[in-house]
Amino acid sequence: MLVLEKNAMTDEIESFVDKFGNDRSSLLPILQEIQKKHKHIPDYAQQEIARLLDIHPVEVYSVISFYSFLNTKPKGRNIVRLCQTITCDLAGKKSVANAIERELGIKFGETTKDNKFTLEYVNCLGMCDQGPALLINERVYPKVNPEKAVQILNEVK
Ligand code: FES
Repeated sequence: MLVLEKNAMTDEIESFVDKFGNDRSSLLPILQEIQKKHKHIPDYAQQEIARLLDIHPVEVYSVISFYSFLNTKPKGRNIVRLCQTITCDLAGKKSVANAIERELGIKFGETTKDNKFTLEYVNCLGMCDQGPALLINERVYPKVNPEKAVQILNEVK
């Protein structure tokens, strides 16, 4: 009888279940391991984690959505986050966003084809008196205007 080869992702998740156990508390460590290795958690992995931990896939998805360090799609090497909260919004967030989108040729929520940049909106970065605030990877850039945003991107490029 032909035995179909098991998916490599399933093997990997099974090894994490062996390592962390098969109860709910293993969900986050397993997700972190998958994220670390694959830079995102694909749909198939979510289904398999749910099956092996005997929980609903919606539960897996809601944990991924809750934590910003977990994501369902691969992201670029540089994550550009622009604050969308009211103070930065009033300080000119929109024109900064437009300049960034023009410069990279993508919209917020997207990743460049070369995987160099992902654009995301975030909530307050705690720099409200110095908005619009931009966070690129770990570094915060205060008082950004469209020209400064393009210049910063070119430095990162
Ligand atoms: S509102 Fe943008 S940093 Fe606080």
